[in-house]
Amino acid sequence: MKNKLEEIKNNIEKITINSIEELELFRNKYFSKKGILAELFEEFKQAPNEVKKDLGKLLNQIKIETETKIQKATDNYSKKTKKKPTKKDKTLTIDKLLSGVRHPLTKVEKEIINIFKKQGFTVSDGPEIESDWYNFSALNFPQNHPARDMQDTFFIDKEIALRTHTSSVQVRIMENQKPPIRSIMPGRVYRNESISSRSNCYFHQVEGLFIDKDVSFVDLKQTLFSFVKEMFGSNTNVRFRPSYFPFTEPSAEMDISCLICGGSGCNICKHSGWVEILGCGMIDENVLENCKINPKEYTGFAFGMGVERITMLKYNVKDLRVFFQNDIRFLGQFIGE
Ligand code: PHE
Repeated sequence: MKNKLEEIKNNIEKITINSIEELELFRNKYFSKKGILAELFEEFKQAPNEVKKDLGKLLNQIKIETETKIQKATDNYSKKTKKKPTKKDKTLTIDKLLSGVRHPLTKVEKEIINIFKKQGFTVSDGPEIESDWYNFSALNFPQNHPARDMQDTFFIDKEIALRTHTSSVQVRIMENQKPPIRSIMPGRVYRNESISSRSNCYFHQVEGLFIDKDVSFVDLKQTLFSFVKEMFGSNTNVRFRPSYFPFTEPSAEMDISCLICGGSGCNICKHSGWVEILGCGMIDENVLENCKINPKEYTGFAFGMGVERITMLKYNVKDLRVFFQNDIRFLGQFIGE
């Protein structure tokens, strides 16, 4: 390797750079990510320790020589192409500062979290790869029960899957904490669904859990009612429809009055005046028992919402795929948000 390094060093010393094009060629050949220098550093890593000192010295000389050449050529040639104003012109408009922006999903998730924090909820986290127990069995999904098909699952093997909802975190909390429990679980979830303007194979949820003595459906309604008013404005109306989830009884889905038409009917709400935003219900006794909480002593409610859905409603986004495409024409609209 030593000979090779010396040869390269000699070569570099002989090179003269005469134009901005030649500078680019030189930079690409020697100094780019896949350039000769990067290759040499990789090779150097494999060299035996006894020779590393010698080789390292040579390699450094090559690096310095290359950098100096690039610097000199940059000074020589890029100056000539740029027109430099001789005096400062204070009337010139300044270049817009390009700074990063928060992704709209992050922004909305934070907003949701802050609203529930004000109501005394803590924030909990859990793994995205889950066992059958946490994602299904503890939540009262019987083995081979068709309810498991409600959530098309990516199985890793028979017992392990990518979580289909953050209800799995609820189980972990119920197993590990004594009531009263008041917590929300934001996170990414996965479902084997085809990708379209309304669904994706992964999305984000915020689920919530409240367990204490004498918790009733009225508490659930009031909590979610306050959330909606703060998130979407005090003119937003709410309605609950009966529904089914294996882990809650009774279960409901909550709709809000359509933000686009105010309830009079439009394409977004399919002319019904209402849009669904979350699932909820009183925690099923079996679930409490599975987590060693006595249902005679404690009751509780749970709810779960999709962050994408809330964001789409709030910002009138019609295609969910834009959240995952990283197109700055879309993301740039949230500057200052
Ligand atoms: N886990 C449900 C889902 O992902 C949402 C939900 C949570 C429903 C809690 C009721 C209670 O669809």
